[in-house]
Amino acid sequence: MLATVLLVGSLLLWWACSRWRDALSERAPVLPCTARAALLLIAHPDDECMFFAPTILGLLREQRQLHVLCFSTGNYYNQGEIRKNELIHSCTALGIPPSNVTLINHRDLPDNPNVQWNTDLLWEILNNLHNSLVTFDIKGVPWSVKVIHAGSVFIGCGVLVLETVNVFRKYLSLLDLPGSWLYPKDVLFTVSGAQYSQAKEAMKCHQSQLLWFRRIYLLFSRYMMINSLALLTCEKEEKALKAS
Ligand SMILES: *[C@@H]1O[C@H](CO)[C@@H](O)[C@H](O)[C@H]1NC(C)=O
Repeated sequence: MLATVLLVGSLLLWWACSRWRDALSERAPVLPCTARAALLLIAHPDDECMFFAPTILGLLREQRQLHVLCFSTGNYYNQGEIRKNELIHSCTALGIPPSNVTLINHRDLPDNPNVQWNTDLLWEILNNLHNSLVTFDIKGVPWSVKVIHAGSVFIGCGVLVLETVNVFRKYLSLLDLPGSWLYPKDVLFTVSGAQYSQAKEAMKCHQSQLLWFRRIYLLFSRYMMINSLALLTCEKEEKALKAS
């Protein structure tokens, strides 16, 4: 009896969340800035679809010009060349052309979880690239962001940083929508049902990475459907500095 009630309850909640998600994903622009160009920074190929699919699809829906900069080829298991191609295909599946994807293969940025990347070097690479890649106002980027890098989106008015959630919320999939809605955030991107399929297609381009636990991730991770992000701006930085 109780099991039936729980099952029906979850199904109803799921249905309500999917309707809500579709309504949210059709909404007008969510970002409070008009800058067209955006640059997504990621650490490894597959971060773009495992963590950022809702953001990417949301930014494209807003007609932004998107570029992706990946700081390593993911060469830890000597699959660098394969993973590079997978990244290109995955971005194409998400709607980003190969010409807008840049992959860095730098001796000093090894794909090794035990090596801490030098943020000055990342900043230098970004500075060198950004003039040729995208034209956005890099002065709008707060100083403290210079230590974060991978896992953020540079956009004219500041930097969007992906909010990480605890392990329980992480695997709630769509049912995390009420939580994501209630928690404070600056920007919320959700995908529609069709876009979720698109995100899964992109993930399938990363054949070398599709181990069983990633398939489970694909089904249950809320990052495949929901991205909540904080917008760091220079004004906020200054306020925080004054307050401290
Ligand atoms: C790719 O980059 C070009 C040049 O910056 C830009 O015009 C175009 O909109 C970008 N494509 C996408 C899908 O963002």
